[in-house]
Amino acid sequence: MPDAPVHDTPDTPKTPACTFVIFGAGGDLTKRLLMPALYNLAGGGLLDEGFSVLGVDHNPLTDEGWRDDLTKTMESFTKDPSAEFHAERIDPRPWGFIRERLHVMQGDFADEATFKDLAGRLSGNVVFYLAVAARFFGPVVEGLGKAGLLKQADDAFRRVVIEKPFGSDFASAKALNETILAQGDESQFYRIDHFLGKETVQSILAIRFANAMLEPIWRHQYVDHVEITAAETIGVEERGRFYEPTGALRDMVPNHLFQLLTMVAMEPPAAFDAEIVRDEKTKLVKAVRPITPENAVRGQYAAGREEGKDVPGYRDEPDVAEDSRTETYVALKLEIENERWSGVPFVLRTGKRLAERRTEIAVHFKPTPLTLFRGAEGGDLTPNVMRLRLDPAPGSATRLNVKRPGPQMHLAAIETGFSYGDFFDPAPTVGYESLIYDCLMGDPTLFQRADTIEASWAAVDPLLKAWKDAPVCFYPAGTPGPKEADDLLARDGRTWLPLGEK
Ligand code: BG6
Repeated sequence: MPDAPVHDTPDTPKTPACTFVIFGAGGDLTKRLLMPALYNLAGGGLLDEGFSVLGVDHNPLTDEGWRDDLTKTMESFTKDPSAEFHAERIDPRPWGFIRERLHVMQGDFADEATFKDLAGRLSGNVVFYLAVAARFFGPVVEGLGKAGLLKQADDAFRRVVIEKPFGSDFASAKALNETILAQGDESQFYRIDHFLGKETVQSILAIRFANAMLEPIWRHQYVDHVEITAAETIGVEERGRFYEPTGALRDMVPNHLFQLLTMVAMEPPAAFDAEIVRDEKTKLVKAVRPITPENAVRGQYAAGREEGKDVPGYRDEPDVAEDSRTETYVALKLEIENERWSGVPFVLRTGKRLAERRTEIAVHFKPTPLTLFRGAEGGDLTPNVMRLRLDPAPGSATRLNVKRPGPQMHLAAIETGFSYGDFFDPAPTVGYESLIYDCLMGDPTLFQRADTIEASWAAVDPLLKAWKDAPVCFYPAGTPGPKEADDLLARDGRTWLPLGEK
């Protein structure tokens, strides 16, 4: 272990001068994540003096009023342990840097006049960040295009960051791609998946491809199955209106879980180049066999107990129908049709109000072929499992079999691993810093390309159709999920790693 913590960004270059236009300046995303991320980037000295922010909102806001509001919100985070942004105090230096560069204008996202106004105010490099409801993605990009705001020059890039959800099925995602690509080039569009901003997700590639001992065994000859879990303890909270027509499959699978899937399963890219990496991801997603209902489970949380408190069932949450059949839990068994993964099931599960918050990928290896230790105590060897943990406490743990100390050959399974916090002292993050930084630098590696998104929706589309009128099975809040998910794996003699058992 190093003597002193290692800072992870010793000589990172500054971003170029740029106006960062935020559509949805008064919204939640801007307050909770974008401002803290910009503050952290400023704190790391990564923003150029020529950086500025122009907020666009349908409500009337003044520069000073907006600056004061955001200053109060930033300060309130220091007293809110549930906020994504953790700080004991707001450092006046980086916040002053951001604050004095904040400007705002009123504008209706569907009104041509907004874009004319914008055109009069903007020159040089611009990033347009669409922190707005999904129904505005198309109209805003069309407004930008028609006002000439997406025309680039040698000394002026024009980029658009589009938030999730990008479409609600294959047809709508394809239509949205067509709308935006009629206004600009694919290289100008940065489709966000915030899972790709998580440090450990990015490090999966390093773990896989920078360690000679892993790549040779990362294939069907040695891997029994791969388990991907994104378990949350929170319920749907105040998002019933969004969640009711969405459900866990649309909300988490073709985006977040598929991104984890591609990171763990794609072929080694020939270079760490945005297009080459994204080509490999797309190839992998295209190799996912269409998912059938027999290989899928949809659940919904019923009332139960979470972290020592009684909590209501999904149907009793605000803005949720009392007979809702929206799923808050999904388990899937996927097959990947390529040579590397032939016959290896990829089992995915995600849900709200589960027994534990945990996001991880677990690679389960096959048992050793030799029965050398049969008969010895502990001789029924537990196969090796390598767990790559994203949340909480990012790190990795590998289950190995060792000999117990003593005169006899007694075996035991142990876990060996590391936590990022033990080795590194990473820069503070709300998860958006590296994404914003990469967009300002023109590096789209961690953003989703049109073809990857369409291929992801194409893989889940048959299931979306099959589930249209399907019932849900119930699980009590605070438990590992519905029993049917256990049955899905039990059919092949497998089990999920336990959830909620410390
Ligand atoms: C969002 C989903 O994209 O991801 C939410 O809309 C979900 O429903 C969230 O809670 C999970 O992200 P994280 O980073 O908290 O694991």
